[in-house]
Amino acid sequence: MRAADIAQDLERVLVTEEQIQERLAELAAEVDRDYADREVLLVGVLKGAVMVMADFTRALTIDAAMDWMAVSSYGASTKSSGVVQIRKDLDTPLEGKHVLVVEDIIDSGLTLNWLLEHFATRGAASIEVLAAFRKPDAAKVEIDAKYVGFDIPSDFVIGYGLDYAERYRGLRDVAVLAPHVYS
Ligand code: XMP
Ligand code: MG
Repeated sequence: MRAADIAQDLERVLVTEEQIQERLAELAAEVDRDYADREVLLVGVLKGAVMVMADFTRALTIDAAMDWMAVSSYGASTKSSGVVQIRKDLDTPLEGKHVLVVEDIIDSGLTLNWLLEHFATRGAASIEVLAAFRKPDAAKVEIDAKYVGFDIPSDFVIGYGLDYAERYRGLRDVAVLAPHVYS
């Protein structure tokens, strides 16, 4: 897809690359402090969290182990089904670990709610959540996320790892997808 065509698919830029990096640095400073005396295991949720994980781990000064999980709850739709399937499980046992789940976005909260309940059964010593974005008005379940980048409106957004049907993940800003793309 050419740059001009991509630009046409964006309604407006919501959060810029610079804003994202600035906020991630603030969150990293908090996580540096909070995990100064314990080893943290970062658990990323593929594929959306790839960009957040890459930038966040490099903003941290503490060393952090990293593992990945792939779940699906969406398909090519723009609405959460709440039905979560594990597509790729973690390589690391969670027993006794201080887990920090790194997510791209909390929308309805259903995916994370399921994941957190599931992780709790694996004996982690602690579990916290970092989400780059959160849509407070879309919440169907409350997620107690300790580290949140930005609260945003409920529009479907793309960029910075977030996709629509696998497109737009590489955009450096986060933007609202123009309705003509999916309607
Ligand atoms: P829920 O509703 O379960 O959704 O909190 C979590 C997952 O759904 C995806 N998601 C989005 N992806 N633009 C996207 O590209 C969005 O606006 C959006 N909202 C939710 C995302 O994968 C997230 O982890
Ligand atoms: Mg995701």
